[in-house]
Amino acid sequence: MRMVDLIIKKRDGHELTDQEIAFWIKGYTDGSIPDYQSSAMNMAIFYKGMNNREIATLTDCMEHSGEVIDLSAIKGIKVDKHSTGGVGDKTSLVLGPMVAACGAKLAKMSGRGLGHTGGTLDKLESIPNLCVRKTKEEMIDQVNKIGIAIIGQTQSLVPADKKLYALRDVTGTVESIPLIAASVMSKKLASGTDAIILDVTVGEGAFMKNMDSARTLAHTMVNIGKSLKRDTIAVLSDMSEPLGNAVGNSLEVKEVIAALHGHGPKDLMELCYTSGSIMLVQAKICKSREEARNKLEEVIQNGAAFNKFVEMVEAQNGDISYILNPEKFEVSKNVIELRAEKDGYIKEINALGIGEAAMKLGAGRETLEDIIDMSAGIVLAHKVGDFVQKGDLLCTAYTNKEDVDNVLEEIVNAYEFSDDPVWALPVIREIIS
Ligand code: URA
Repeated sequence: MRMVDLIIKKRDGHELTDQEIAFWIKGYTDGSIPDYQSSAMNMAIFYKGMNNREIATLTDCMEHSGEVIDLSAIKGIKVDKHSTGGVGDKTSLVLGPMVAACGAKLAKMSGRGLGHTGGTLDKLESIPNLCVRKTKEEMIDQVNKIGIAIIGQTQSLVPADKKLYALRDVTGTVESIPLIAASVMSKKLASGTDAIILDVTVGEGAFMKNMDSARTLAHTMVNIGKSLKRDTIAVLSDMSEPLGNAVGNSLEVKEVIAALHGHGPKDLMELCYTSGSIMLVQAKICKSREEARNKLEEVIQNGAAFNKFVEMVEAQNGDISYILNPEKFEVSKNVIELRAEKDGYIKEINALGIGEAAMKLGAGRETLEDIIDMSAGIVLAHKVGDFVQKGDLLCTAYTNKEDVDNVLEEIVNAYEFSDDPVWALPVIREIIS
């Protein structure tokens, strides 16, 4: 078999056989197929797509390109969550402790942020000393003790995705439904969970810009999960404006702490309650989503979810004094307030614009080698639909960089105003099961 023939076959719109897909993934993982041929294949798939059988085979080959984790040493139903990425998306850090406080078992392996999207691991690492590098055995032990662990993916987990994702990121082939579906589902399946909730983001700040493509991606992933006997449900969530108010690592952790104390932004909490309700039913802890929602509201009100977060940070060697006193987090040298230039309703806060601006302030990385400034980012004072008067605070930018006038201009340009009232889209757009 020659890789060039497979590229041509896909380029011309034909189906690849299971053996051909296996040949590509095995060869790319072991280095016998070079980056340039895999790039060409990714681009061919981007344009010509894959049918369900090809996507299932690609997922299976990627899942088995490395270690498949056995979580049977953890008692009960293991639940896991994956988001297709967004701006200000700190959901896992709020949702994880909430469901764990209700008795669910969450062994979560997360990734780092790239480009305009943030990564859960980077956010966690803004807590001084917190360790995300744990072995599988340590993770299992932690989940058995306290019900939750959020760690970095081990090197041996889906090595094909590590190589392919990095390649897609620099070759304009991230936004492909078959490639995203296989990337996400191979990781979830390899990480050994029983039930999966997928947060498929949709809008300007997401890979899926419209509902049609988000729905197709969600159905594709749910079908893969179900065909492999995993209880898989997708929540389509709005990512046209950033989620919550904070964008940037320690700024988001501070928002997580406030949310766990019951002071979270409405959209973030709604996403956590909806996703959490589904997870508690998947975990067979509750019989209905209504019962689950009441339980989740209770663990926010009685402090159990916050205490679970503290337990997790402590178990991962993080300095809990920062969680107990969030004012201890270092504040950037430059704190710049941006104010409304006229009266009006906020019609748009472009998530992509805000995400890219936050990255340029130091909160994100353009390449995997870049070092993140944990204190940098943007905190919104208002959300879409709010009325502001001239001079009101729109948002605050935090940075240790100088000469950021261009970035500040980009932030202002992310806003659109209207003289007429505007209603924000609901954060939960649809649930697909
Ligand atoms: N998240 C992933 O894990 N993979 C993708 O391809 C896109 C988003």
